[in-house]
Amino acid sequence: MYKVVLVRHGESEWNRENRFTGWTDVDLTDKGVQEAIKAGHLLQDIPYEIDIAYTSVLKRAIKTLNYILDVNDLLWIPIRKSWKLNERHYGALQGLNKEETAKKYGAEQVMLWRRSYDVPPLQITADDDRYPPKDKRYGNLTKQEIPLGESLKDTIARVLPYWEAEIVPQIKAGKKVLVVAHGNSLRALMKVLENISEEDIVDLNIPTAVPILYELDDDLKPLNRHFLGSPERVQEKIDVVANPAKIME
Ligand code: 3PG
Repeated sequence: MYKVVLVRHGESEWNRENRFTGWTDVDLTDKGVQEAIKAGHLLQDIPYEIDIAYTSVLKRAIKTLNYILDVNDLLWIPIRKSWKLNERHYGALQGLNKEETAKKYGAEQVMLWRRSYDVPPLQITADDDRYPPKDKRYGNLTKQEIPLGESLKDTIARVLPYWEAEIVPQIKAGKKVLVVAHGNSLRALMKVLENISEEDIVDLNIPTAVPILYELDDDLKPLNRHFLGSPERVQEKIDVVANPAKIME
């Protein structure tokens, strides 16, 4: 039986402010740091050690991974970073407050932007400060790879090849893999792993810093999926992601 653990980063500054974040490289809040440390402790409940870890090139995920590894005295293991595990690029929505955006465009439209399978957000143009090549970490992306604003479908189109080419061979070699990424890059991965329909993916919300443990069969089909931690705490955190305005209450 193969195993893999997925974790979304802890609360970020823009989660706290309820702003669309995407590729904006915001830091963890103090609460996010505590969540990441807690995720590290939760991982001690699983009966094996992580051999290799994957994350994005965004500091909220990288730092979350480091806290998790530190708690487990595993900072020495190999870590691979790729933009392909980044949050979906939220286009021209990046920086906007989600509640104010819902007032302006309607809650239904914002729901489509946030959770639908193939509705992309408002796009940026190449003269926008948020255009990825303006940041040197994205200097080697091809023109076709540069996102201007991604739907979940677009996100899957870059997460899945990375999963298949880089992560699956490690899992098949028997390595215990940890992936620390983002709400929507993980939704992308989980949609494919669990074969979730375009309709049902709308209801999948990923809580911050809760380890998600998968056991997979020989074809990497999930035998089970388990959120670590008390079910009440996990549900509370899922509710915050589903209704982010609650964070501000
Ligand atoms: C963001 O990029 O704003 C968040 O990380 C994910 O946001 P969402 O839950 O609104 O998709």
